[in-house]
Amino acid sequence: MMKGRKTILTMLLSATLALTAGCGAKETATSGTSEAKTIRVGTDAAYAPFEYLDGGKVVGFDADFLDAVMKEAGLKYELKNVGWEPLFASLKTGELDMGISAITINDDRKKTYDFSSPYYESTQMIMVKEGSSVKKADDLKSLKKIGVQTGTTGAEAAEKLVGKNSERISKYENTVLAIMALKNGEVDAVVADNGVVKEYVKNNPKEKIVAIEDKASFDSEFYGLMFKKDSKDRDKVEAAVQKIMENGKYTEIYKKWFNTDPDLEALKKAK
Ligand code: ARG
Repeated sequence: MMKGRKTILTMLLSATLALTAGCGAKETATSGTSEAKTIRVGTDAAYAPFEYLDGGKVVGFDADFLDAVMKEAGLKYELKNVGWEPLFASLKTGELDMGISAITINDDRKKTYDFSSPYYESTQMIMVKEGSSVKKADDLKSLKKIGVQTGTTGAEAAEKLVGKNSERISKYENTVLAIMALKNGEVDAVVADNGVVKEYVKNNPKEKIVAIEDKASFDSEFYGLMFKKDSKDRDKVEAAVQKIMENGKYTEIYKKWFNTDPDLEALKKAK
């Protein structure tokens, strides 16, 4: 019964996503020469406030950051909503040149992809319904079901607590689906990036979902722009990242989305 519901939901949502996929913003960052190639950038736009769809256009902190970086680098690009796992696959095959999707830089991914230096500091957070017994990460061990997005560091964090391939972890194609599963009682908690968890709780006060932080159990993570290995674009893009961090543009975008100043020193130290 539960399973059936989940499947229908997943199908509905995938259908919606499929409809909107490929309608990404086509932006020209430079008048450039005609032979300048368009860099194909992929994202999973179900991750507000970093990337989400607004009238078919990908918007969010990442979208603004990317636009500023590419303008600074004088590169033409196209941002496509391809979904999370397809993003990794398409970068590998060369169908895409670059990814921006609140992607945590880690050693495992570094084996297959190249990254820019860190542009955002993050950590995992737990979402539960009001009144839940969960107060810290360790309490997740006593739950029946934990929802995560497949292939994310949130999934990894949950696996670390209850075991890899544990039946108690329900994996969803995107984080919106995992949160819906929490709302309808399919799972008892969701583990995801703090920025996304906080945004959801803030925007949906009536749903009585609470966000739990546990800095003692969850490490700092840093987001980076991701490239296929040995990408020829990386150095140019990286120089532009550094430039907009120095000239105030990055700070302006950060403030627009998070209402506070970024910790540029922490990002530099994490390089
Ligand atoms: N930061 C996490 C990771 O790299 C989650 C990112 C998910 N991003 C998204 N757009 N769905 O695994």
